[in-house]
Amino acid sequence: IGTLWVRRPGTAPAAEPVLVGSHLDTQPTGGRFDGVYGVLGGLEVIERLNDLDAATRHPIDLVVWTNEEGSRFQYSMMGSAVWSQKMELEGALSLTDVDGVTVADELDRLGWAGSRPAAPSGAAAAFELHIEQGPILEDEGIEIGVVTGVQGLRWYTIELGGFPAHAGPTPMIGRRDPARAIAGLVDDVYAAVEAKGEWARATFAQFRSHPVSPNTIPETLTCTLDLRHPDGEVLEAMETQMRAIVTARCEATGVTGEVTLGNDSPPVHFDEGLVATIEQAAAAVGVSNRRMISGAGHDACYVARHHPTAMIFVPCQDGLSHNEAESITSEQAAAGASVLLGAVRAVAS
Ligand code: GLV
Ligand code: MN
Ligand code: MN
Repeated sequence: IGTLWVRRPGTAPAAEPVLVGSHLDTQPTGGRFDGVYGVLGGLEVIERLNDLDAATRHPIDLVVWTNEEGSRFQYSMMGSAVWSQKMELEGALSLTDVDGVTVADELDRLGWAGSRPAAPSGAAAAFELHIEQGPILEDEGIEIGVVTGVQGLRWYTIELGGFPAHAGPTPMIGRRDPARAIAGLVDDVYAAVEAKGEWARATFAQFRSHPVSPNTIPETLTCTLDLRHPDGEVLEAMETQMRAIVTARCEATGVTGEVTLGNDSPPVHFDEGLVATIEQAAAAVGVSNRRMISGAGHDACYVARHHPTAMIFVPCQDGLSHNEAESITSEQAAAGASVLLGAVRAVAS
């Protein structure tokens, strides 16, 4: 599936590796740190150990996961999902972008379609270093987030079917217009989700109409919806409510509605032992830290199904991410990498 593995050997031949890394793919208008920072942080750990001529018992594997974002080929955390057996390899390879290009086409073009099976092969621990992508650490003036888990996320496609007709002569009354349904359902879903508390999230995007024309009532109108919550039961309730809203709004406007679930990544709880290891590493480096959960999805979610896993966050400017203005300081970058180094050494030594 194109995931890159880079090994620094350990001294004990049978010892399982410690995994570090993240992803290098980005959003269409993404920043320079989401993913890239975790890869370079892992590489920096290896270079630092080399500079110190410091051997570790366990090998250290730097992993660069393929298509974490899932924006072009729509499946979030795709490479790690395939590796973890959550998603079938064939299903991932046949995902297409808007131009009909497949993941398999692109891996071939790049020369990244490897021969090693994408499957877990044992690890002592896994760490992912990442920017927070939210405002909590910056607001509280804290240098390191010790991530105890990740909220659940579900991606849907909503397809509304109307009756195409002329924009001018067709009376407003009696139209079957999917735009009318979408207007109401977006508002209703936002209101329902806001009532689920401060961690509930709903994001509508990728609105497309067919035919592509300003003066024909759309025959179909599709959009994506990303729902998130840290509690799996609340997330389930959000889905039930959303489906009921779509049905009600479609009935009221005389259009058809279909909701398809794509990605489904349940809430994740990281390894308590590694969470404590990160806290000790932060204390040794002398940086302030707090426990927190991640609002964003990460490859660590699927890694955690197989190996003890935890994550380290650093603050980012204004909590901004998935935006080209995404920014961190050199000091923040160094603090996170130092904590990663300490945590890796604690386990790998
Ligand atoms: C990853 O960027 C996500 O959607 O959380
Ligand atoms: Mn990321
Ligand atoms: Mn991202």
